[in-house]
Amino acid sequence: MKKIALLLMGCGGVGRQLLHHIIACRPLHSKMGVRLRVVGVCDSKSMVAAPDASTAELDDELLLQVCKVKSSGSSLQTLSNFGECNVFSIQETAREVTDIATLLGTSTGVALVDCSASSETIGVLSQAVDLGCCVVLANKKSLTSSLEYYDKLVSQPRRIRYESTVGAGLPVIASINRMLSSGDPIYRIVGSLSGTLGYVMSEVEGGKPFSQVVNAAKSLGYTEPDPRDDLSGTDVARKALILARLLGHRINLDTIKIESLYPVEMGPDVMPVEDFLVNGLPLLDKDIQNRINKASLNGKVLRYVCLIEDSRCEVGIQELPRDSALGRLRGSDNVLEIYSCCYKTQPLVIQGAGAGNDTTAAGVLADILDIQDLFS
Ligand SMILES: NC(=O)c1ccc[n+]([C@@H]2O[C@H](COP(=O)([O-])OP(=O)(O)OC[C@H]3O[C@@H](n4cnc5c(N)ncnc54)[C@H](OP(=O)(O)O)[C@@H]3O)[C@@H](O)[C@H]2O)c1
Ligand SMILES: *[C@@H]1O[C@H](CO)[C@@H](O)[C@H](O)[C@H]1NC(C)=O
Repeated sequence: MKKIALLLMGCGGVGRQLLHHIIACRPLHSKMGVRLRVVGVCDSKSMVAAPDASTAELDDELLLQVCKVKSSGSSLQTLSNFGECNVFSIQETAREVTDIATLLGTSTGVALVDCSASSETIGVLSQAVDLGCCVVLANKKSLTSSLEYYDKLVSQPRRIRYESTVGAGLPVIASINRMLSSGDPIYRIVGSLSGTLGYVMSEVEGGKPFSQVVNAAKSLGYTEPDPRDDLSGTDVARKALILARLLGHRINLDTIKIESLYPVEMGPDVMPVEDFLVNGLPLLDKDIQNRINKASLNGKVLRYVCLIEDSRCEVGIQELPRDSALGRLRGSDNVLEIYSCCYKTQPLVIQGAGAGNDTTAAGVLADILDIQDLFS
């Protein structure tokens, strides 16, 4: 039986779902001849780890207790029945992670799985790559930091997977990698990579006011608690940067042109969120409606997309043909159109749910199994 050691960083919605998936998939994995061994789990303040990462692991009962403690909003430090395992404080965690990475990196192998939403993991991830570890990411931060970190992380392409950073469980990165490695040059990617903005842009098309649609999206739970986190476009820009860098663009987040759907004078530092929802948003209705009407005269619709073409990488509203995969988009799906030599007139289209704890965790788990050959 092949054993895959895992160290999980981040135990929020996605991290916990991953642990549940791992446990639920045990019978399937044993049929495949693999066993996933969780040797440590971290949150923002602490870590629970097996006493000896080479031989011991957190058993399923403990993993379920970890999930329970974390979903009640408590710290891992409140764990009670951790048996032989150790619970470390924030001061000790970084060293403990390094110790595990050093111990297992070049022996049995270990994958550091980043399901945090923090940029604090960048240092330890890049160090782990040097120590021969594998890296699996749902968190976009490390890949969208400086080019120096990016180059380091992808320097061992067989040891890194990051499918869930773009389109959650959708096979976006894998499909692009297959095209690139078959020598099929990709010259254009257009993608609606935010479920929230996909929903908003398709709903306003029917004449509903922008303000009403954003408020509806918020009640449906599609938006962040402050919808401006979605409307600013920065999350889409991070995804665009990951795709652009994959295509070989040597660019940074601050060189991407990002269109925000609210003006600076309605920003989070200036206006409380309630004020924005009630008084700010309605002031934006007319402009969006005018743009929709103008696009519609040419048979086009508005979509909030990332556009990567030649040396361009932009994020914002584009007029797109009504009769295209993106033009037909309704609801909160993600949709990507990929144009290459092989897919020239009709693009390769990837569509489906692009968020959710479940699909994201499934993408992470598939990434882990994809690198199983590197473990002994
Ligand atoms: N949810 C989705 O649909 C989706 C889709 C695609 C990608 N993603 C990405 O997946 C990641 C996780 O998302 P989520 O929704 O699960 O986030 P979340 O619920 O906010 O969970 C984040 C977790 O990371 C932990 N954390 C924070 N700083 C840390 C650090 N320095 N080291 C280790 N752990 C740290 C937090 O600890 P505490 O519990 O102590 O706060 C928390 O457990 C994010 O990067 C997100 O962008 C999510
Ligand atoms: C993901 O998990 C978080 C934390 O458990 C929860 O608040 C959120 O509703 C979940 N999201 C979805 C779409 O299930």
